[in-house]
Amino acid sequence: MSSPANAIRVQELHQEINHLNHQYYVLDKPSVPDAEYDRLMRELISIETAEPELKLLDSPSQKVGGQALKSFTQVTHQVPMLSLDNVFSNDEWQAFAKRVQDRLVSKETIKYCAEPKLDGLAVSLRYENGILVQAATRGDGAVGENITENVRTIKSIPLKLMGDNYPDILEVRGEVFMPKASFNALNAHALKKGEKGFANPRNAAAGSLRQLDSKIAAKRNLAFYVYGIGYVEQASSQTLGKEWLENSHYHRLCQLKTLGLPMCPEVKLLADSSEVDSFYQYIMQERDNLSYEIDGTVFKVDDIALQQKLGFVARAPRWATAYKFPAQEETTQLLDVDFQVGRTGAITPVARLHPIFVGGVTVSNATLHNQDEIDRLGIKINDFVTIRRAGDVIPQIVSVQLQKRTEDCRDILFPTSCPVCDSAVVKAEGEAILRCTGGLYCGAQRKEAIKHFSSRKALDVDGLGDKLVEQLVDENLIKTPADLFKLTELDVSTMERMGKKSADNLINGLAKAKVTTLPKFIYALGIREVGETTAANLANYFLNFSAIKVADEELLQKVPDVGAIVAKNITQFFQQDHNIAVVSELELIMSWPDIVVKSADEQPLKDQTFVLTGTLTQMGRNEAKAELQALGAKVSGSISVKTHFLVAGEKAGSKLTKAQNLGVEILTEDDLVALLLQYK
Ligand code: IVH
Repeated sequence: MSSPANAIRVQELHQEINHLNHQYYVLDKPSVPDAEYDRLMRELISIETAEPELKLLDSPSQKVGGQALKSFTQVTHQVPMLSLDNVFSNDEWQAFAKRVQDRLVSKETIKYCAEPKLDGLAVSLRYENGILVQAATRGDGAVGENITENVRTIKSIPLKLMGDNYPDILEVRGEVFMPKASFNALNAHALKKGEKGFANPRNAAAGSLRQLDSKIAAKRNLAFYVYGIGYVEQASSQTLGKEWLENSHYHRLCQLKTLGLPMCPEVKLLADSSEVDSFYQYIMQERDNLSYEIDGTVFKVDDIALQQKLGFVARAPRWATAYKFPAQEETTQLLDVDFQVGRTGAITPVARLHPIFVGGVTVSNATLHNQDEIDRLGIKINDFVTIRRAGDVIPQIVSVQLQKRTEDCRDILFPTSCPVCDSAVVKAEGEAILRCTGGLYCGAQRKEAIKHFSSRKALDVDGLGDKLVEQLVDENLIKTPADLFKLTELDVSTMERMGKKSADNLINGLAKAKVTTLPKFIYALGIREVGETTAANLANYFLNFSAIKVADEELLQKVPDVGAIVAKNITQFFQQDHNIAVVSELELIMSWPDIVVKSADEQPLKDQTFVLTGTLTQMGRNEAKAELQALGAKVSGSISVKTHFLVAGEKAGSKLTKAQNLGVEILTEDDLVALLLQYK
């Protein structure tokens, strides 16, 4: 027999924990620290362990998982779980909307409920008298698998519905998915342990729901959004609140939300079909900012009576369709591998692919990074591969389709000498990358060095693009960055496809670029691993260029952010003959002011520590950092009690939370801009 005091305490704990779960996972507004939540959960579990009869079906302790199963049982859906038809363009959407309109023979405007198409797995949740009693996968639509144990561990799914305004039996349908952040953390953890990880959040969600051990599923941080009702049953003697009669799909979802079922915040009720395309465009544009993966949008006739009139064809409703984004993953064939030589001599294998339309563009190349990546993929020439292009991210080869491998596949062999200049190639210890040793003797490195030298963040030479640099090198008009300044108008105008105006432009651009700043000049040299920030730090520390040229590794390491490797790169750069020659020429041709040390009163932010996080939209992070440092501030990468200010840009994440917890003062980007302006 359980003690009455414990029985009461269990009820209290249920209420408190359910309330906290709802605030945290559904409303996204945590109200107590995690430790407080853990304490309540531990108390509940300890009572339940001592008195098992107090462990109820809707106990929030189920969120941590229970006994492992031997296999999943089958569930026959009371109402079949349907699928959706797809459209892929505005024309196809118009055709769909016209079919709906025609079938309804009505002149009335049709409202649509607009929803993101969540990329996870459809599940059906059955609540009896408000308690979650069964969860099932879609399966073939008629019969699915019983995954109740795993679904109980999903934090945002209520084990008990809130309030009392629900039918005796309620089956809701929705999508279980893995948020991007949970997926990234899971894969990072897998990689650390030398395991393979999942190809995408959808597979990760599916793999987690298929765990026989719900304790594992509990650790996977799955989430859920409801998108429909499957089945409702109510004893005729009882009546429900008015909302249950709501004749709108959208309002029914809102009603489910009041019962504690999470509803996707992007769902919107559209006044008519003409608003569909802008919702689609909006969601497509927001896609990367959403915390979960989607693969399109879904539009549903909102009026339930009209839905019923329209009915179903085969396995899909006539009243809804998915308006999908262009596929982000496609299959194609690896035709060959070329080797490109970069600015620092790094030799990168580039996959030449049979052109394929993926993620909205035609892709015919993808980087294979290095030998390690080739080994990881186990890829051979002529293999069929899965290509992924998400957002504006460069296309990646995700995996090899081994089942399609034929006998004409061959290994990818790395060159034994530089494919451009034939110099020896080396692999530094601990590095995955093969490098050409030709330095500026190598045509490829020369081109890349000159492109970098004249690029926007370096000398920003007006009128000189990458193509023109290649042409100038190919036509032997320049060999080094210094040669750029020796170009005459005559040289340039003799080049193919070069009009007088473009020639003038380039010569003027070069004349202007001769005067620069010390940080930009250092950055422009293209020393390995010396980016804008390091260049600015070197300039601020040494104040003039001559001091940097002769500094030894020990001294260089005194500069903020410069470690042993970067210090070595710098000294090696200034020891190489061709660099010495080019640099001395440039010193004669170009000019920049030395850095003047600011006196203490010109360093108003001296001893103030800043941390920058999130995306800054008005200036780059490096620029903000350099400006703060110029005013004497320290800019650090991590928050601690010693931090004075956190500058939180867009999409600031864990650093912002940490700063709030530590009581660090938080500045917006506008605050920062105003602060910097004060001292200009
Ligand atoms: S409604 C009768 N709404 O897409 C209509 N499905 O391709 C049934 N999905 O199996 C589905 N987001 O797994 C609906 N907002 C959404 C959805 C959605 C994702 C999935 C669901 C379904 C599949 C059909």
